[in-house]
Parts: sequence; structure tokens; C-alpha cells
Amino acid sequence: MDKQQLVDSFSAEAKLQIADVEVFSNIDSTNSEALRKLKAGQKAGFLVVAREQSNGRGRRGRAWVSSLDSGLYMSVVLPFGRSVENLQALSLVTALAVHSGITKSYPVPVQLKWPNDILAGNKKLAGILLERQQIDEISAIVFGIGVNISLSDSAQNLIDRPFTDLNTLAKVEVDPANLCAAISNQLVEDVNRFCEQGFEQFKQRWNELDRYKDEDIIIEMGNSKLIGKSLGVNGDGCLTLQSAAGVEVISSGEIFPSLRPQPKD
Ligand code: BTN
Repeated sequence: MDKQQLVDSFSAEAKLQIADVEVFSNIDSTNSEALRKLKAGQKAGFLVVAREQSNGRGRRGRAWVSSLDSGLYMSVVLPFGRSVENLQALSLVTALAVHSGITKSYPVPVQLKWPNDILAGNKKLAGILLERQQIDEISAIVFGIGVNISLSDSAQNLIDRPFTDLNTLAKVEVDPANLCAAISNQLVEDVNRFCEQGFEQFKQRWNELDRYKDEDIIIEMGNSKLIGKSLGVNGDGCLTLQSAAGVEVISSGEIFPSLRPQPKD
């Protein structure tokens, strides 16, 4: 990936807030590298990108398959002044930014899966891993973003869930530097808006793009499961679920489509 091309495609806002960009051929994980840089004293406001990750990390302790030039592997680090309770909503805002960054550059039909997966149909196109580092009273947030671009056969064999890639969806050769800049620009803009005005302004758009809204789903939360109809997200970024017991408000968990017919009301 060409660093100059990437920086040249930054918006004025992104140029202001992302002061440093480092592009690696190979790294263990762009998130881990970003956290190391913060620990070593680098100020939030930078971007780490890699062509390959030897230890790409996903949510819930899973691995993120990151073979050479198969995807975009990036971590944007921004300061975050708001309270930590807003992190739930911030992760949803990140999903919207990644969605817009992708679809503004490549108009493909993609949707969101709560809390922050990007899907095409039922197949995963991109994932997000947010990590936080506290330095005095300022939090630095590492926005780790992985987008499947062109999965090799060997990479495909390593993924144990339905997936797709952007080359297949867009039917054109995707330029990772342009995609990285488009996502960075959108992320900086949306995080600034979120910090100024909160999540409420993003809620409607999120619910319009939600793959599972109004569908019967199962939510797994640790060892427990809830079954019901998804009512979409509320103003805090929590998922609301119509279950047999009433409306439940869920702040963490993983959605699975329900195959069980739900009782009619
Ligand atoms: C998920 O499980 O859906 C989240 C995947 C996040 C992967 C990205 S790739 C860039 C950054 N570095 C990592 O190690 N993980 C994130």
C-alpha cells in the first residue's frame, strides 16, 4: 500500500486528526502495534495499516484471518473524551462509518449486524475490534477494522463462518489505500459528530441498515440465550428485543438467526 497515496486521499479533518501513518508489510496485529505505541508514549491521533497480520485478533478472543493482501487491516487511534459508558454506542457508530466508507467507494449492498459487523446477505464482509487505553483522564480508542478484499483459497479455508469479500461484491479490483482513506475520513467525521451530539442522530440510519431488525433472533450472552424479535437499537446503542417476557434491553451478546418458529401474538 502506498502511504503517500493514502495520506493524499485524507479529508482536511482526517489530516488534522491523524498526524502519523505507518504502513507495515507484516505485523502481528495492527491493534497490538497501536496499543504498544500508546504505551510507549505516542499520542492518540495516528493510523497503523498492514498488508498482512500474523496474529490478527477478532472479537470474543477469536482470530481474524489476515493473509497477505487478502484484506484491509487497519487501526485508527483517536482520543475519546466522553465517558466510557458511551463505548457501546461508539462501536455502533464505527460500524456505520465503515459501512459508509465502503459503500461510498464501492456501491455494494451491505448491512449491519449488531453490535458492529458488516454483512452482505448473511456473509461477513468486515469486522471491528475496539480497544481502549486510559492515559490520565483521556481515553485513547483503537478502532481496529478488518475488511475482506480478496480472500485467497488458503485464507478461505481458515474461516469457519460464512464470509464474502469486496472484490467479489464490487466486481472491480478494490484499491486498499483508497478504501483505507475513505473509512478513515468517515470515521473521523462520525466520531466527532458522536462526541458533539451523541448517538441519537445515528439511531435511525443504524436501524434502517440492520440486517436483523424485525426478525426472530437468538442472542447468546455468555452461557445464556434469549429468543425474540429484534426491535432494533435504542438511543444508547443497546439492542431491544421483544421476548415472551416483554421488551429486553441488551448491552452485549452475539446474534444468531432464529430457526425456530416464534409464537404468534
Ligand atoms: C471481529 O471479530 O469481527 C473483529 C475483527 C477485527 C479485525 C481487525 S484487522 C485490524 C485490527 N487488528 C486486529 O488484530 N484486529 C483488527
